[in-house]
Amino acid sequence: MTPTAANADKFTFGLWTVGYNGTDPFGGPTRAPLDVVHVVEKLAEIGAYGLTFHDDDLFAFGSTEAERRAQIDRLKGALAAAGLTVPMVTTNLFSQPVFKDGGFTSNDRAVRRFAVRKVLRQLELGIELGAKTLVMWGGREGAEYDSAKDIRLALDRYREAVNFLGDYVLSQGWDIRFAIEPKPNEPRGDILLPTVGHALAFINELDHPELVGLNPEVGHEQMAGLNFASSIAQALWHGKLFHIDLNGQRGIKYDQDLVFGHGDLHNAFALVDLLENGGLNGGPAYDGPRHFDYKPSRTEDENGVWESAKANIRTYLLLKERAAAFRADPEVKDALATAKLDQLAQSTFAPGETAADIKADRTAWEDFDAASYFNAKGFGFVRLQQLATEHLLGARA
Ligand code: GCO
Ligand code: MN
Ligand code: MN
Repeated sequence: MTPTAANADKFTFGLWTVGYNGTDPFGGPTRAPLDVVHVVEKLAEIGAYGLTFHDDDLFAFGSTEAERRAQIDRLKGALAAAGLTVPMVTTNLFSQPVFKDGGFTSNDRAVRRFAVRKVLRQLELGIELGAKTLVMWGGREGAEYDSAKDIRLALDRYREAVNFLGDYVLSQGWDIRFAIEPKPNEPRGDILLPTVGHALAFINELDHPELVGLNPEVGHEQMAGLNFASSIAQALWHGKLFHIDLNGQRGIKYDQDLVFGHGDLHNAFALVDLLENGGLNGGPAYDGPRHFDYKPSRTEDENGVWESAKANIRTYLLLKERAAAFRADPEVKDALATAKLDQLAQSTFAPGETAADIKADRTAWEDFDAASYFNAKGFGFVRLQQLATEHLLGARA
């Protein structure tokens, strides 16, 4: 059976993803550029809900106002004809030489002011197009050499830029939020706010933390050796999953941007299960766009571009089906009970219980048999993981 995308799935793609022409540090393009109108038409054909873009994806850096407007109008026309939306926009603060030491945190103050102006322009365009999220990926915010960047001062500059943008959004009464996208390295040797955890801590230091959340990317957490599904769970716990970048990565190496699921498939299964079934009463835990930030490999021609775009959607939908079957399986329910997940949902303490109370509770110490855990009382986590694996393989109905 072939699951098909519904509008409710909110599958979105960056213009720079399907538009990637194959350039890497070792070679130039292997594909011709794709026109934005064509991209919108093709995305609509494969069941996408929306398109996202950097300013420089749509109109070349340094375009005149007339050139910029012409491209915006062409995009708007295509979106209206195809019934697609722009739920998120983002600013390119990394491609041009001027950003070689970053945008918001460049050591050069004039560059920082230019970067803020560039983001303001893209923010205003986002509002014009109805975007609800502005992603901030600071790929050039960082350093290669420890003495070249005072990290505490750079974080001061990062914070003041985000605070400044937040104040502007509030003053305009706009309905848009910011999502910071962590990445440990590449292009910089070390990037500021390298992981979900670092970014969460940073957000808590802002003037308006409620305006700022995260746009975590599968491959970026995995480049740091972290468990993506677990990072997403913590982002949800903090109420900070504002957006998500789905793709695939195989281990700790350069940012591969493979198709979603073409990396750690087990973790992709856990992620989809969390997003789709991890909410209240087993409903979805996240209702924002499922945004694919991948790169069609440079081995592919244009046909391969659209095949890979479809592969992202199809893999997500297949995992969603498998995750639903996993949750419905009575044997899984039994394994979850053996694993004591129901107990994890219970408070460790009785309502209002004090230290004196727990000290008076003999079952918590004097009568508690810690030795009974030796050679007995296994949690059965491996059986549970095997059941997940078999559902993932389609070996159970
Ligand atoms: C990368 C990033 C980017 C960002 C994009 C949005 O590693 O190149 O993932 O693709 O997601 O710039 O701001
Ligand atoms: Mn990436
Ligand atoms: Mn990304």
